[in-house]
Amino acid sequence: MSSKVLVLNGPNLNLLGTREPEVYGDETLADVEASAKATGEALGLTVTCRQSNAEHELIDWIHAARGEFSAIVVNPAALTHTSIALLDALNTYDGRVIEVHISNVHQREAFRHHSYISGRADAVIAGCGVHGYDLALRHLAKLLN
Ligand code: DQA
Repeated sequence: MSSKVLVLNGPNLNLLGTREPEVYGDETLADVEASAKATGEALGLTVTCRQSNAEHELIDWIHAARGEFSAIVVNPAALTHTSIALLDALNTYDGRVIEVHISNVHQREAFRHHSYISGRADAVIAGCGVHGYDLALRHLAKLLN
């Protein structure tokens, strides 16, 4: 379990590559997931990736991660700014949590400045593009090994 990391992506991130590429870049979710797995492998981490547009599915995956995964890298997308339910789910999980945002949410609309998740996260990465996922895994490799 110590090297198992779950990478979770929330609503609309399935459209990466075609969704607002000027904000989110032109790499697809498949590219991001392949890169996360390759980075993980190089770091001795086993990476599992999941994406959903449904809040309940993300919550179920967090519940299932309890005792199974030693860390979660999560980009909750818009649920970052709205979901107490996702925060509550992460509060039932006692592994490491890294929150990732592709864009710098603090440079954007005011409603993106607040995160329900950040208070639970061990670290927050924003504005590094999709490289943020790799940075999160590198940080986890340090924390977990
Ligand atoms: C995002 C930022 C959120 O505000 C937005 O709703 C997203 C993506 C990001 O990765 O930059 O869907 O989490």
